[in-house]
Amino acid sequence: MDLHDFKDVAENYDRYLSVMYQDNDNHDGFREFYLDLARKYGAGGVVDIACGTGAVLLYLAERGIDVDGTDLSEEMCLVARKKAEQLGLQLRIVPADMTKFHTDRKYSLAIIARSGFMHLPSSRLQRDALLNIRDQLTEGGILTFNTFDPNPALQAEMMKTGPEDYSFRLEYVNSQGQREKIYNAMTYDPCSQLMHGNWKFETLDEAGEVIGERVRPLLMRQTYRSEVFLLAELCGFQVLDIYRGYLGDKENLSAPNDGVNHTGNLIWIMQKK
Ligand SMILES: C[S@@+](CC[C@H](N)C(=O)[O-])C[C@H]1O[C@@H](n2cnc3c(N)ncnc32)[C@H](O)[C@@H]1O
Repeated sequence: MDLHDFKDVAENYDRYLSVMYQDNDNHDGFREFYLDLARKYGAGGVVDIACGTGAVLLYLAERGIDVDGTDLSEEMCLVARKKAEQLGLQLRIVPADMTKFHTDRKYSLAIIARSGFMHLPSSRLQRDALLNIRDQLTEGGILTFNTFDPNPALQAEMMKTGPEDYSFRLEYVNSQGQREKIYNAMTYDPCSQLMHGNWKFETLDEAGEVIGERVRPLLMRQTYRSEVFLLAELCGFQVLDIYRGYLGDKENLSAPNDGVNHTGNLIWIMQKK
């Protein structure tokens, strides 16, 4: 089980994410970014893969985009479905692994938003996902996903962190109306390129005393740019664009670099060949 498979995480995900990203410039405009892509490439249908609680899925559906959702976590799908019902939207939201899912239709655009792809823990599974998603796309269909550009300085910091070296991340109010503090302890293994560790949720009473604690594991893989180019080639995709964040800034594809400029969040746009 990983972080998002837990009911308590799914039910609180929107609440703590809104605090986590409130002062994060890298995150501004993500919904509009995907809406623009959907309007450009999604005429043949859109699938939001690893849709989570529906941040992108519902935004697109509310604006008239023909979109389905899928996510490995049944708990995340349940929350997304409940939100869709509250909005009066009839959507197909199916629990499934992106390395295997298939439906009775094809899509002209597949979106994996906000790090879903990074939850695949090996290059083999990344390949399986890309090959499978390619099969779900129409001819010339588009796939987009993001990677965090590996940064050696941050990796070195993470390599010093042990499983109990928790850092405070944020405080928010959970779905029961209780204050909670979130801490995480993530380490990095340069051989497997895996970031792994735990998120700790502490529930507080009104006086600020800790009255409960839940620890949830998390595993994510860092992927270098050169690997993504190779994966694309191996799986029958052509990289069209790489955006640095959601505000339209692009990488120069004729001068790709690995480990030179660390731009943080890279958003890949690739086309089925
Ligand atoms: C960081 S969340 C992002 C959710 C959503 N896209 C958003 O923008 O809020 C990552 C999601 O990836 C899902 N996930 C992880 N591994 C997956 C897999 N193999 N197939 C499908 N979904 C997966 C998790 O369940 C989780 O909901």
